[in-house]
Amino acid sequence: MYWYNVLNLINHMEDNVKAVEIKPDIFWVGAIDWAVRDFHGYVTPEGTTYNNYLIMDEQITLVDTVKSDFARHTIKNIQSITDPLKIVNLVVNHIEPDHASSIDIIMAAAPHATIYITEKGIKGLERHFDISKWNIKTVKTGDTLNTGKHTLLFLETPMLHWPDSMMTYVKEAKLLISQDAFGQHLATSSRFDDEFIECQSRAELEDAVIDYYANILMPFGALIKSKIAEVQKLGLEIDMIAPDHGIIWRKDPGSILQKYLDLAEGKARLGVSVIYDTMWHSTERMTIPIMQGIKDEGLECKVIKLRSTPMSGAIKEFWKCRGCLIGSPTLNNILFPTIAEFLTHLRGLRPKNRIMGAFGSYGWGGGAVKEAYEEFKRMKLEVVEPGVQVNYKPSLDDEALCYDFARDFAKKVKTYHEKFS
Ligand code: FEO
Repeated sequence: MYWYNVLNLINHMEDNVKAVEIKPDIFWVGAIDWAVRDFHGYVTPEGTTYNNYLIMDEQITLVDTVKSDFARHTIKNIQSITDPLKIVNLVVNHIEPDHASSIDIIMAAAPHATIYITEKGIKGLERHFDISKWNIKTVKTGDTLNTGKHTLLFLETPMLHWPDSMMTYVKEAKLLISQDAFGQHLATSSRFDDEFIECQSRAELEDAVIDYYANILMPFGALIKSKIAEVQKLGLEIDMIAPDHGIIWRKDPGSILQKYLDLAEGKARLGVSVIYDTMWHSTERMTIPIMQGIKDEGLECKVIKLRSTPMSGAIKEFWKCRGCLIGSPTLNNILFPTIAEFLTHLRGLRPKNRIMGAFGSYGWGGGAVKEAYEEFKRMKLEVVEPGVQVNYKPSLDDEALCYDFARDFAKKVKTYHEKFS
């Protein structure tokens, strides 16, 4: 009896949250990953969710799958509504493994299903699985699938953020299943925006949206704008947006569309992030007069020590502000390694509409500040040159120099910011 109870308890503990009806006959059947902190190198302090959706209709249809570790959870959620053997259609909006690595397990549970996927999706799928026994149909923008009471319209979104990506619009439900777009890495018991805002806060939700956008979608701003315009041109009525990560936008889906347009435009706060690292605290000391100079010019300033902050957190803070000052000691005539890594990572994200400057200390030969400016120019960002370099430890005169540089930088941030207002 004791072991029976223990086993029951373990089974119970392993259970994920239950399926949730998000629209009549449409259910969230996903999984919550409370524990993930390293999402392919992207730090996720709040975990994440893998959302997928079951449409109960004459043809039962599953839209998306989950990370393979969580296949059992989605199958249990599906079983709470229907027998997976009855699934007729499986829509695969995206083949990145956090969503698609369980497709073989799902197809074993639903062997009669036909997969609907983009042409690029099939190319990726066949690299991961033996697809020879699966029924697969290629879809493109404008193609539809009638499941009985529902019409699914497919919208390709190539490079948002993989070549295979697409979204699925459920016409009668006015529901856009948006895949990665509009998502957030948030493990929470709330399934909807209004629930989350009530239990936690709007500010936390907004922060999670910016974090996700900055670290995943920043390179694709122009594509995002054109894709949203395309959806608007199609005149699709949308009263719910259901992404594959985080909460579902049911209260105000228009707000997340507008937020994405703002982020894609490169809108930012009139403020400065100061992102630095330090060896013997000299570069760190420089941040104090620099912060004061920015503040005295009336701008918000956030100081971030890179070695104490996850890379993805620093990227988020960079993206929030119009201006950014990078502080790096010189090590072996070049940038300090953490700063070099940050700038390389940032270059890959192709940031736009930001103004940059640099500062740092050196011992017997500079180099870091010069290299930082070379990186800014490679990214085609606006710069305020020549920055400030200090030999060994900053003197009072050096601190005054830092203060003056920061005030001048803040003035230039204000002028530059006007271009976007
Ligand atoms: Fe959430 Fe591109 O995968």
